[in-house]
Parts: sequence; C-alpha cells; structure tokens
Amino acid sequence: MSPLLPRLLRGLGADGASIGLPAHLDLWGPLPDTRRGGLVDDVADAGLRGHGGAWFPAATKWRAVAGAGGRPVVVANGAEGEPASAKDALLLERLPHLVLDGAVAAARALRAEHVIVFAPARRRPRLIEAIEARRRSAADGVSIELAVAPDRFVAGQETAVVSYLNGRSGLPTFARFHPVWRSGVGGAPTLLHNAETLAHVALIARFGSEWYRQAGRPDAPGTVLLTVTGVDGAPSVVETQKGALLGAVVGGIDRQRCRAVLLGGYGGTWVDPDTASRLPVTEEAARAVGATFGAGIVAMLPHDRCPLAETARIARYLDQEKADQCGPCVRGLSGMVAELDGLAFGARRAGDAARRLGQLCDLVEGRGACRHPDGAARLVRSALRIFADEVLQHQQRGPCPESRAPGWLPTGDEAPRHVRSGNGAIRPGATGALTSRSRK
Ligand SMILES: Cc1cc2nc3c(=O)[nH]c(=O)nc-3n(C[C@H](O)[C@H](O)[C@H](O)COP(=O)(O)O)c2cc1C
Ligand code: SF4
Repeated sequence: MSPLLPRLLRGLGADGASIGLPAHLDLWGPLPDTRRGGLVDDVADAGLRGHGGAWFPAATKWRAVAGAGGRPVVVANGAEGEPASAKDALLLERLPHLVLDGAVAAARALRAEHVIVFAPARRRPRLIEAIEARRRSAADGVSIELAVAPDRFVAGQETAVVSYLNGRSGLPTFARFHPVWRSGVGGAPTLLHNAETLAHVALIARFGSEWYRQAGRPDAPGTVLLTVTGVDGAPSVVETQKGALLGAVVGGIDRQRCRAVLLGGYGGTWVDPDTASRLPVTEEAARAVGATFGAGIVAMLPHDRCPLAETARIARYLDQEKADQCGPCVRGLSGMVAELDGLAFGARRAGDAARRLGQLCDLVEGRGACRHPDGAARLVRSALRIFADEVLQHQQRGPCPESRAPGWLPTGDEAPRHVRSGNGAIRPGATGALTSRSRK
C-alpha cells in the first residue's frame, strides 16, 4: 500500500458511493486484533493528534483513560456541528467502516466493551447499515451503538456529548474536576475522539506507526482532511500530507479573487491570502501566524463580499448557538453581535466599535465552561486585525456596497449549499454526495 496519498480517501470513486464492509475488507484487509496491547504505543509513536479541533496528542488521552481504572467506553464524535466542515460527514457517509474500525481497535486496546457513535440524524441510515453489517459478521467482539446528536454547534463539544449520552441537557459543562477521560459516559472513563482521528487509528492498527510517519513531516506526521470552500462557495474535502503548502493543496489562492481565507472555521481566524498560500498545513505553522486549522476548515472569501458583514453574520450564528448558561456567552457574545452589526451594516457611523469589540473579546476569553466564546473572540480579533482598513472605512463612511450582498458561508438561515461531486451538484448530507480529492 502506498504510504502517501490517498490514505483515508483511498478507494472512493467519483460515483459518490459508500464503501460497504466486503469492499472495505478487500481494500484494507481484516482489522488486526489489538487486544494484546501495543496499539497505544503505536498511536504515541505515530504522533497522532486529535482532528476534532484542539490537536491534542491522542496517546496522552488513551493513557489517561487506561490509567483511570474501570471498564472504559469509546465514543466516535461525528457531530460535526461546524457548518463549514464536511469531512466527518464524508467519512461517516462513504467510509463508515474506517471510523468504526478505529473505534473498535481503540476499544479492544483499552479493554472497552462498548463503542458509541455520536452523529446527526441525517447520518443514521448509512450508519445503521454499517453497524448491522458488522453485527452480522460478528468479528468485532465489542458492541456498537448509534446515538443521534442534537443539531447544534456546541453539541459536539466533549462534555456536551457526554452530558447528552448520560441523558442530561447535552450542553457543555465545566470539566476541570470531572474530565471525561476519568468520568464520562455512565461515569466510566471515556475515550472520545473525532471521527477522522479514529479513521487514522484504523490505519495505524493495520500498518503501524512507521508507515503512518512516512507521510507528512517528522514534526508533523501523517495526513489530514481539509474541508475547502472556494471563492465560488462550493465545498470539497481534500486529503493532504501535513506540511504541504496550503496554496498548493487548494490549487492556488489568487489574491485577485480571494479577499481573505478563514482558517479553522467559525471559531477560527481570518488570514490574508498571501500568508495562507505560503502556510504549511500543520497546526504549529498556523499557530505561529496566530491562526488554527481547527477541524481542518479552509474557506476563501471572494472580493464581492464584505468581510465585516461576513464576520457579523458568523458571530450572530455563534451567539444563536451558544448554550446560554455562562456569563461570557450570555452577555459577551450578544454585545459582540450588536457592535459588529453596527459596524458592518449600521446606517450611522460606528464610532470606535473596534475598541469596544476588543474589550468584549478580553471579557469573554477563557471564562466559559467551554471554548465557544474563545472561538468567537478569536474570529473577531482576527477580523479587526486583518480587515483594519475596512474597519476604518466603515467607521468613517458607513457600510460598503458589498455588505448588502447575501451571506457567503452557511449560518443556518439560508438554502442548503451544494457540495461538489462527480455527478454534478447534490445537497450536502444527501447520500454519497460529498466530494473527495487527494493532494500531495
Ligand atoms: C464549541 C465546540 C464544539 C465542538 N464540536 C465538535 C464536533 O462537532 N466534533 C468533534 O469531533 N469535536 C468537536 N469539538 C471538540 C471536542 O470538544 C473534542 O475536543 C474532540 O471531539 C476530541 O476529539 P479529538 O481528540 O479526536 O480531536 C468541539 C469543541 C467546542 C469547544
Ligand atoms: S461558554 Fe457558552 S457555549 Fe460554552 S457552556 Fe458556557 S454558555 Fe454554553
């Protein structure tokens, strides 16, 4: 098997079809028995990090769960509440057995007996089909359950997932004293990973850490799925080696067409096109320019849209999606929305809105039960920095003509976007509609 590309997306055809269990086993061979140990070390040696947004080293979590005592539970997090992300949908719809293999391999390695797949209702038909096929083959030796995730942005935050699975509110909780690795689903130590992270585990279990490290760079090994939204607004999922230059991965970022790039999604950062173009696809490189790849989101804003209007719309969405239980969200986010609305769309001049927005960011950062307000503050701060000229113009002259254009990224109040596919345009979430591409 080629160690480079495609990896996760290997075997996907342009027909949009899902890979069933027999085809999956033909492609990858049987899942080795990971009960005898060694997988935790392989995951550590591979340098695998979580792909759910925080890039936390996976093996650190595994060791914490293993050391917590009791029979752990493994959760595959496929909630994908972020509207600009489509990679988990692609995995669950078209490559469900890769995610399930990773969860089963982790469960066996940690002596867990129970795997829970947490995913939105629209993924149910395909996942039920996949779980039933595995049940019939009786090869896993662990039970797999499907839990339907609520359709909201914060539903996939790890304490929210555990709260929901425990029959409670499904809202984030302060986890300092009850981290999910120690006390999660049913009070058991819980290994919770993003769907993509588990798909990588499926391949590490088969081919080992050395193979995994052959792609990417020594300091950033492996591959990553990015959801790339072009200036035309059409998203596609791309697999790339870590360390590749983002400009090359997305087929070029043209300053003439692209005003700015949103990295890391709605709780991410605006980056200017030249910086984005030269950026190696590693979380460290993104952080060095004050950004994050988050859950692998790259979205290119065209010139016919106002970046302040777009930021205001996203902030409004984040405000609507907050869980309304902590001060920073309740007061801070709505304050940010009011200021951004005034700056982006207000008929009157917005005065020193930028200064007040900076103060609101200071107020909310690090103060919520979850990192939702931190994400909103990061987005707003990056907008103030990257679009300083636009801020000045709006403050002095009022809204620009582009601020009247419709919203560009989805914020829940528009018609469904179309996702590129080999068969023409099909609605996202529709069976097999998500495109995939691989780039070196
Ligand atoms: C507001 C918010 C929403 C989140 N939503 C998701 C999500 O939809 N899917 C996901 O995998 N992780 C999500 N996360 C990250 C999870 O809390 C958690 O870190 C992740 O699922 C762990 O998996 P990983 O170690 O494989 O990255 C979210 C975090 C925050 C703060
Ligand atoms: S910080 Fe916001 S989103 Fe997170 S738990 Fe508190 S109110 Fe909810």
